[in-house]
Amino acid sequence: MGLSSKILKASLVVFAIAFPLLLIVTLMYQNSLYDHFEQLPREKVFGERIQNITVEGLRATDKSNAVPEVQKDSSQQTRITREKLVNGLLPTSGFDEESCLSRFESYLYRKTSPHKPSPYLISKLRNYEKLHQRCGPHTRFYNRTIIKIIKSGTKGAATNCKYIVWTPANGLGNRMMSMVATFLYAVLTERVLLVQFNTDMVGLFCEPFPSSSWILPENFPFINNKRYKETYESLLHKDKENNSQLIAPSVLHLNLQHTHNSPERFFHCDHSQDLLQKVAVLIFMSDQYFVSSLFIISSFNQELSKMFPKKDTIFHYLGRYLFHPSNEVWGTINRFYQAYLAKADERVGLQIRLFNPDLTPYETIMGQILNCTLQHKILPELDTRNGAVASPRKTQTLKSVLVASLHPEYGENLKAMYLSKPTVTGEIVGVYQPSHEEKQKSFDNTHNIKALTEMYLLSFCDVLVTSSASTFGYVAQSLGALKPWILHKALDANIPSPACVRDFSMDPCYHHPPTHDCRGNSAHDLPYTSKCADYSFGVKLS
Ligand SMILES: *[C@@H]1O[C@H](CO)[C@@H](O)[C@H](O)[C@H]1NC(C)=O
Ligand SMILES: *[C@@H]1O[C@H](CO)[C@@H](O)[C@H](O)[C@H]1NC(C)=O
Ligand SMILES: *[C@@H]1O[C@H](CO)[C@@H](O)[C@H](O)[C@H]1NC(C)=O
Ligand SMILES: *[C@@H]1O[C@H](CO)[C@@H](O)[C@H](O)[C@H]1NC(C)=O
Repeated sequence: MGLSSKILKASLVVFAIAFPLLLIVTLMYQNSLYDHFEQLPREKVFGERIQNITVEGLRATDKSNAVPEVQKDSSQQTRITREKLVNGLLPTSGFDEESCLSRFESYLYRKTSPHKPSPYLISKLRNYEKLHQRCGPHTRFYNRTIIKIIKSGTKGAATNCKYIVWTPANGLGNRMMSMVATFLYAVLTERVLLVQFNTDMVGLFCEPFPSSSWILPENFPFINNKRYKETYESLLHKDKENNSQLIAPSVLHLNLQHTHNSPERFFHCDHSQDLLQKVAVLIFMSDQYFVSSLFIISSFNQELSKMFPKKDTIFHYLGRYLFHPSNEVWGTINRFYQAYLAKADERVGLQIRLFNPDLTPYETIMGQILNCTLQHKILPELDTRNGAVASPRKTQTLKSVLVASLHPEYGENLKAMYLSKPTVTGEIVGVYQPSHEEKQKSFDNTHNIKALTEMYLLSFCDVLVTSSASTFGYVAQSLGALKPWILHKALDANIPSPACVRDFSMDPCYHHPPTHDCRGNSAHDLPYTSKCADYSFGVKLS
């Protein structure tokens, strides 16, 4: 017995030394392959595609979809290669271009971004992609983790891979807010992000991570399972009773929705994060852009500051990184853009969301829109002199106004107005409203396709006018790197004064930040934030 146990020990020691060595050698080999790939000329990496800057995919599907012709001189080419991959933000390999055209074509519709992602952010994203490839659905590590958790019962299991499962709450704008925040949390905590898309979100987005999937497998055993129902609330409760003796569960439900006013508020505290770190699978629900609360957690603060030297760019980068409309959605975006926006000299996006349509008559909102857009010269005044006629000019400028609203009358009225009289500036104003549905529906896939289409089209505009507290507008402004004019919320039949105000930052507003500090005392300030201009409880990064 003694001898065999010695042999066993010896072989364990050998294995313990050999395995890491083997791993290092394998990783070095992979890295050298990767480096080699990086040093190849761009043409080699992208094959012929980079030379054919006009987009073959679009041509093949629809001949009328002419895309801006771009000349092939070399400085143009590097600009395009760079923009194509959003300044290094997107991975250079692991995707089939045809299966997700928007990933490679969005840059054609956007002005050159004035922002550049930090090398540190880029390296964090590349590392995250490796983690996701290693631990993503149906990999060896994923299978092992699942089995290990099932075997360990409800007690904590130490696993190689840890997960955060994003589950949907509220409308599409809110969901995109919480997806970005959850992804950032996943990057910071080295968890793999899996998303549960119910039927109303299927087919909206492409896969964001190369050679893997972010879709939660259908047979994921820990969701809707009575055995795994421990909540963060009960964990905190046990922790209070038992202090450091606590055994964290393997699976935990965490709800950070704004309606859920409970100990979840302590999520932003170091101690909570220490507890959560031990949990293998977090089932997560939120409808908030809770990014600024992550800055309170001391272990995250430094990382975040290195990743984002400019803090109001967080959604801008992560949104452009994560959200690529599927080919179906992209087709609609592209056709609408070509038909109504492509030829304009300036594009104005007008997003009108009414939270209390019964309190504010149509005339109030219309008056407010006109007051805001005319006063700030976003739209030209009408030439109301008797007999004024537009003198035809050779170089007439065209302003295209894209109206996104659930109500058709705003677009129709504005259109009729600019057809009735010439403008004092001589500009031609065209007004287009892609869709309108009287009520926001949260559980309908076609509704979400329309919503995503409009958010994207708005993000391609040069100037944005948005409604207060609308996450729909937040998505458009951050993706487009735009500081919008915000229409103040009308409370009654009077036009608010001033009608609108220019936002100070393009990052979304965190509507319901924590109201307590980590000892449970009342309000404290979140670092790097200011009060939102459109929502008095909210704060945003600037
Ligand atoms: C690029 O364009 C050339 C000539 O226009 C064509 O022969 C070639 O097949 C194109 N490449 C791809 C990848 O479509
Ligand atoms: C993981 O398990 C699934 C079945 O649940 C199987 O199809 C897949 O091949 C497994 N992956 C590996 C790498 O063994
Ligand atoms: C408290 O700790 C003890 C000892 O580790 C353990 O047996 C008991 O189950 C714990 N109680 C709770 C509520 O976690
Ligand atoms: C907008 O309203 C303000 C008062 O709040 C008024 O002073 C201003 O003249 C109005 N501008 C236009 C263009 O109607």
